Amino acid sequence: MTPDPAADSGSRLRVVLSQQQIAARVREMGQQIARDFVGESVLLVGVLKGAAVFLSDLARAVPLDASFDFIGTSSYGAEKVSSGEVRLTKDLEQPLIGRNVVLVEDILDTGLTMMYLRQIFLARQPKALKIAALLDKACRRQHQVVADYVGFVIPDEFVVGYGMDYSEKYRNLPDICVLEEQ
Ligand code: IMP
Repeated sequence: MTPDPAADSGSRLRVVLSQQQIAARVREMGQQIARDFVGESVLLVGVLKGAAVFLSDLARAVPLDASFDFIGTSSYGAEKVSSGEVRLTKDLEQPLIGRNVVLVEDILDTGLTMMYLRQIFLARQPKALKIAALLDKACRRQHQVVADYVGFVIPDEFVVGYGMDYSEKYRNLPDICVLEEQ
């Protein structure tokens, strides 16, 4: 039996999306992006750090000429709730002007982060801007943001794994799990 990495912290991990389910859906999302930008190149921008794992799998499922960049934001400290304010902690290294940009996010929650990033990105005049979110907590939305590519719509539960953390832990879990208090 695989040891539960949360066991010592008084929490328990319950798998809600297995690595097989994630892999199958990420492949479909990659094909969808490839169809939308057929014959063109794309810039995949991952939102650090949560989207790093998703971006690396998604990029390999997009059979197009693709480049990567990363942007860093922070709205959560060591808490499970957002502070309600987004800060840019790392800017892009590449210009967006005239490029097909896919903003790659692990999870759309209130929509605050995406709303903030969308404004910044549009001001840099990309040719096209699409949003890919692996998870969508649609019931939590407070800001008007709709992703163009959504992996799974999930209920209002705090999830970890596949890049997502709680207080910087659990990012390396291959499955997506709910962290339950014991
Ligand atoms: P939003 O700005 O409220 O939409 O929050 C988006 C960001 O919050 C995501 O990119 C995640 O980093 C973080 N987040 C929201 N819900 C969860 C969760 O259930 N687990 C881990 N991180 C989350």
